Amino acid sequence: MSTLTERDDSAQPPMLQLLNVESAYGPIKAIRGVSLKVRRGEIATVLGSNGAGKTTILKTISGILDPRKGSVEFQGKDITALDPALIVQQGLSHVPEGREVFPLLSVHDNLLMGAYTRKDRDGVARDMEMVYGYFPILRERAQQDAGLLSGGQQQMLAISRALMANPDLILLDEPSLGLSPKLTKEIFEIVVRINRERGTTILLVEQNANMALNASDYGYVLENGRIVMEDTCARLREKEDIKEFYLGMKETGVRGERRWKKKKTWR
Ligand SMILES: Nc1ncnc2c1ncn2[C@@H]1O[C@H](COP(=O)(O)OP(=O)(O)OP(=O)(O)O)[C@@H](O)[C@H]1O
Ligand SMILES: [Mg+2]
Repeated sequence: MSTLTERDDSAQPPMLQLLNVESAYGPIKAIRGVSLKVRRGEIATVLGSNGAGKTTILKTISGILDPRKGSVEFQGKDITALDPALIVQQGLSHVPEGREVFPLLSVHDNLLMGAYTRKDRDGVARDMEMVYGYFPILRERAQQDAGLLSGGQQQMLAISRALMANPDLILLDEPSLGLSPKLTKEIFEIVVRINRERGTTILLVEQNANMALNASDYGYVLENGRIVMEDTCARLREKEDIKEFYLGMKETGVRGERRWKKKKTWR
């Protein structure tokens, strides 16, 4: 939370902990030796440019991709390479890059898909009201196919679908992708409200360092698959490397060359 300026690691065990995680796609090592912690109640962020390995970190946490090395611990349990559905049941939801809503299902049915493992019908109904409260446009569009929503509305739906699982922790993959600055700001404000009002812990990965550093408590900088820096976001915002490279105007990163957006053929 915003009052959290120092990390007292002795206070309580982290909610999520990665230790020396390495994940690869065939011969391509995407992340190496990644260790990070997310504390209960905070918004943590991983900043990095294209291809740095941000999405790979989230896929490894949520069980979509099994790591070659290292471990992932969530709420004191080892969840390394566990089935993704079981990880969701333990209270960890993933909002994937590019939203991936079900385009031919209605908005309402997309939301129900987020709650498919739950048995508490009253709780599901309450959470449906809760997400409609955060994103009133989704109530207006409840019966429409999700494929007809704008990019920003689909992002709202993807976040809401994750909330419908009643998670303790949400992994949020580049919510700003392809959105106008105004919409990005709106969505970030609601993400912060969800964190503050519901106490939902959030791990956010972003290229938009400005938004991410303002919204988050603690940050990691990822370059070429490695964490090269970590600190409170208040302090990261003041660092010259971060100001010059991630918030502006320089050609090289904390370590090495900047990698520019290449068109992705895989998803
Ligand atoms: N399915 C895949 N098959 C092969 N290589 C992949 C695959 N997905 C990612 N990679 C490679 O792994 C590395 C890390 O990719 P990743 O998608 O995690 O980066 P990212 O930080 O999320 O980038 P972006 O900001 O573009 O989303 C890159 O070199 C990428 O080319
Ligand atoms: Mg990505």
